[in-house]
Amino acid sequence: MDEPSPSSLHDPLYAPSTAFDSQSLHGKAAIVTGSSRGIGAAIARRLAALGARVVVNYSKDQQGADGVVAAIHADYRASPPHLASSSTNASTSATLTHSAPAPDAPESPSKQSAMDTDSTPPPKADVRAIAVRADASTIAGGQTLIRAALAAFGRIDILVLNAGLSGEAKVGTDGTMADTDEAAFDRAFALHVKGPLFLAKGCAEVMGEGGRMIFFSHLATRKSTILPSYVLVAATRGAGEQLSRTLAKELAPRGITVNTVTPGLVDTPGMRATYSEHKISFLAGIHPGGRLGTPGDIAALCGWLCGRDASFVSGQCIQANGALVV
Ligand SMILES: NC(=O)c1ccc[n+]([C@@H]2O[C@H](COP(=O)([O-])OP(=O)(O)OC[C@H]3O[C@@H](n4cnc5c(N)ncnc54)[C@H](OP(=O)(O)O)[C@@H]3O)[C@@H](O)[C@H]2O)c1
Repeated sequence: MDEPSPSSLHDPLYAPSTAFDSQSLHGKAAIVTGSSRGIGAAIARRLAALGARVVVNYSKDQQGADGVVAAIHADYRASPPHLASSSTNASTSATLTHSAPAPDAPESPSKQSAMDTDSTPPPKADVRAIAVRADASTIAGGQTLIRAALAAFGRIDILVLNAGLSGEAKVGTDGTMADTDEAAFDRAFALHVKGPLFLAKGCAEVMGEGGRMIFFSHLATRKSTILPSYVLVAATRGAGEQLSRTLAKELAPRGITVNTVTPGLVDTPGMRATYSEHKISFLAGIHPGGRLGTPGDIAALCGWLCGRDASFVSGQCIQANGALVV
């Protein structure tokens, strides 16, 4: 192969970007669905550590979501100065409780700021994260998240569609076709396909250049002998992967990337609620590296995808599974 000519090496296109500049999410706002615990919680903290303000979404676990918001503010106070924004004192956490809007009554940001709060809200510049209760499987829930983000942060740059069913407990004992019924079918398609599509649609309307969307998938889309069938997980996650490829094409002209992250087996509360200790040890043992993934492993990938370095990575389905499935 020809050596690059000296002049091309001086071309800015060849220049490495500095780590802080290329990965900083300063001034950006993110929504992370299902971030009251597990992988979503780690992603919310990671994006916040990179400088983004974050909507921490949950559907039931308010205590968990409040804990994530508090942790983000604690991280922010402890973070080095290069991550500090124009805000001078971030000693606050906030939980805003939002309800879905009437379809014919969109709220203006000023109207939204008057929404119920659990306590006197801190100055807006000090709020690095808010917890928002919304069912990410519904269109109304998605609208609630969008309104909350716009009211609190005035913008949406990043959407991480992490909320998902975890384990066979939610989709039948073994996830086989025989275990599948209409209610499970509707639940899986609502949370993995309908909710993400309409939330992505709403966010795309307000996202600017440099926007990022991340769908979530599951190893079950690649069949193996070690996993149960997970019929509905495989079908709905496959649909989500296709959505992300399609939206990547549609949004590329606007400088917005769309990718899918497929976690391997990750040690989370969802996994612990699904598998026995014995099975978790077995699953760790079958990984070539001898361990399960951690929420931080997945959060690190998501953080990178949201940064400027990943601006040419779009329409991809990226696995983080410690070489379990290659
Ligand atoms: N852990 C793994 O091994 C693994 C493997 C492959 C894929 N994944 C995928 O990775 C994602 C995170 O998994 P995880 O193991 O971290 O899950 P997890 O520990 O069970 O946590 C799930 C999170 O999603 C929230 N959630 C669930 N339904 C929701 C809804 N309808 N609306 C809003 N929030 C909702 C939960 O909060 P509430 O309880 O408040 O609703 C919680 O914060 C999921 O999409 C999962 O399918 C995980």
